[in-house]
Amino acid sequence: MDKYETHEHDVIVIGAGGAGLRAAIEASAQGAAVGLICKSLLGKAHTVMAEGGVAAALRNTDDRDNWQVHFRDTMRGGKLLNNWRLAQIHAQEAPDRVLELEEWGALFDRTPDGLILQRNFGGHRYPRLAHVGDRTGLEIIRTLQNHGIHQGLDVHMECTVTHLLKEGDRIAGAFGYWRESGRFVVFRAKAVVLATGGIGKAYRVTSNSWEYSGDGHALGLRAGAELIDMEFVQFHPTGMIWPPSVRGVLVTEGVRGEGGVLKNSEGERFMFNYIPEMFAGEYAESVEEARRWLEGDRQACRPPELLTRDVVARAIRDEVRAGRGSPHGGAFLDIASQRDADYIKRKLPGMYRQFRELADVDITRQHMEIGPTCHYIMGGVRVDPETAETSVPGLFAAGEVAGGMHGANRLGGNSLSDLLVFGRRAGKYAAEYAKGLSSALAVNPDEVEAAERENLAPFEDSGTENPYTLLRELQQAMETYAGIVRTKAELEQGIQDLQNLKRRQANARVEGTRQYNPGWHYALDLANLLTVSEAIALAALHREESRGAHTRIDFPESDPAQEAFNIAITLKDGQLDWRREPRDELPAELIHLIEGKPGELTADDVAPAFERRRGY
Ligand code: FUM
Repeated sequence: MDKYETHEHDVIVIGAGGAGLRAAIEASAQGAAVGLICKSLLGKAHTVMAEGGVAAALRNTDDRDNWQVHFRDTMRGGKLLNNWRLAQIHAQEAPDRVLELEEWGALFDRTPDGLILQRNFGGHRYPRLAHVGDRTGLEIIRTLQNHGIHQGLDVHMECTVTHLLKEGDRIAGAFGYWRESGRFVVFRAKAVVLATGGIGKAYRVTSNSWEYSGDGHALGLRAGAELIDMEFVQFHPTGMIWPPSVRGVLVTEGVRGEGGVLKNSEGERFMFNYIPEMFAGEYAESVEEARRWLEGDRQACRPPELLTRDVVARAIRDEVRAGRGSPHGGAFLDIASQRDADYIKRKLPGMYRQFRELADVDITRQHMEIGPTCHYIMGGVRVDPETAETSVPGLFAAGEVAGGMHGANRLGGNSLSDLLVFGRRAGKYAAEYAKGLSSALAVNPDEVEAAERENLAPFEDSGTENPYTLLRELQQAMETYAGIVRTKAELEQGIQDLQNLKRRQANARVEGTRQYNPGWHYALDLANLLTVSEAIALAALHREESRGAHTRIDFPESDPAQEAFNIAITLKDGQLDWRREPRDELPAELIHLIEGKPGELTADDVAPAFERRRGY
């Protein structure tokens, strides 16, 4: 073991986006010695791609809001597959986490009374998103980073963790390499928090950058934890689509929250044609509103552009397929006709600059051309709702890598509040767990050497496969067979292709040395991407219905019987294994919140009157 550079901490946090930073801050505040490991540089995280705001029932903009309504929206957005206790804790604690950020120096936009300003977002009944123009995630990262570095965290940058180390059933640390030198490194720790974010690089068009290769999902699975809800991948409706070099870059939902509307090539505001029956009660908030809408007042209700992301993404896809798409295969997002130039530049300065600089488009005068982009995975490592601990003692998970909070579909802005609420809880309970151990557990040298051998395999002469080619083929397979819509035949073909790619990945070959060698990095990331991609396809194959972000053309309706379970994935003898896991029953006092309050409009009240559209 002497040959390995070794660091020892009470708690290590793998991933330094919002969840990782918040976990590290909390663990450190509890007195733990914390190591924070970043795959890239500190502050470069997908958290910044949650641009439009953080969801919390602060009730600054509409005092009808409260945690109960936030809970209801989150559960209904997740099509009731959410772990109710995660959703409840989230809704209850989000306001405190946002106010705490303010105390730590975050600069939010303000109401005229000086309170934190909140804006509308898809699926949220009231204006609920506390925001800083269109760079909320960035402000949150800046604030957490600033607060964290004054807490004495040890930050390890440009380090990829490839293996978790265990002593018996318990976590004992992690093994990885420095990206610059390629040298291996061992981290001994009493507790480990996974905060690695998502899996976006499994898809060709994505808002995620290169770091998001499902590392934590795969690490957790290999360490013996379970994944749940992997069939639910969120395609954000509005990514840039032109020019090709920026395809997938996020266009914040804040544009629609500030009044932007979607149009097809015929200039029609097409979202009015896609109000699904089951959402009618969400869309109109009173019988009076619904009546006015039916009488032709299309402004009577909340704009249909603010239906949930799954609905909007599928509507854009359907418009394109019907021949009414934009020139590069998407739709038009128009805020210029809705708001004056000063307002747009003030509320959406990032979008204004992004389109001017990357696409030569002035959004105060011209439409944006947009289309769906892979943005987030609802599925992840199963955790205990109170402590964020996984089924592996000493292993915790928070943020996008953790599953269960968002069910079948996440509402925009709930990712930021999720990572604050459960980042804090993961850090707190990881520190508590660490306090219960007098020293870090022993690291098994055989395990470390096996990890090293595995990582060095791509340098062997016998390999023939180019990792870049394999990555392209993987992304193609996921887009074709496990994208916005799926069928049994496609998913089966996808799984076959992925298994084939897995065999070829074992034969990946890279040239050169370990010193900054991106080909080698990709070869190692590929193993994780293949694992999570197969988990997505497998879970999608076995959910034979359409629900939230999972659309099966061969099962276009939601099946009430399938509301009763989540799909769980584990690793058995190196192979993925799936099973139906009964969902925790909601306590009676929460059921009535979801079903609506007496006197409120329900879907059944208005569904017959709305234009009926069958299917998803
Ligand atoms: O559109 C956005 O600003 C993204 C927010 C989110 O994913 O939560």
